Amino acid sequence: MVNHPLAQSRLTAMREAGTEPGSFRAALHELTTMLVYEAARAFPIERYPIETPVAPTEGTRLANPPLLVPVLRAGLGMADATLALLPESSMGFVGLARDEETFEPRAYLESLPADLAGIPVLVLDPMLATGGSLEHCCRLLADRGCTDITVICVLAAPEGIARLERSGLPLRLVTASIDQELNEKMYIVPGLGDAGDRQFGGM
Ligand code: URA
Repeated sequence: MVNHPLAQSRLTAMREAGTEPGSFRAALHELTTMLVYEAARAFPIERYPIETPVAPTEGTRLANPPLLVPVLRAGLGMADATLALLPESSMGFVGLARDEETFEPRAYLESLPADLAGIPVLVLDPMLATGGSLEHCCRLLADRGCTDITVICVLAAPEGIARLERSGLPLRLVTASIDQELNEKMYIVPGLGDAGDRQFGGM
């Protein structure tokens, strides 16, 4: 949980029903920067020799930059901020829709490297609600050999966290809030509404 005053103020702007899409996207961008900054504390670094204008010394860089995977469509609003902090990273994309017969998530887009062994992945999705979509997405990554998944989300419901815990997938979660519950329509309460509609307008 990233319980920083600046993160919580951006989250408050996102929660408020009167926040316009432009301000919502700006708050999501800034909050994503803070969440990814915190997530990156755990990233291994490597040292290498550099020269300052004054003397030789040692510099550091990420030993293994993660692959970034925004989940379409709401995760798109987190992509720019993450890539700005991790310019050495590559980006894949996962698009998920609900199968109208089985009600299970189904991937309509899997733009990912075939082999993810040894590659850490940052999954970007603002809302962890039931956890069905995120579990599906993380399974796609694990099926490609990924053993190091970090899910970055703005809000998480206890039900979604429990589902990801039960999944046994190799992941950790970074979020700005664990909210109360899901309502009967599977919205997070108090939540912020539909994160895709709030960014891009309703369809
Ligand atoms: N997805 C959203 O965008 N909002 C919710 O509250 C739950 C899932």
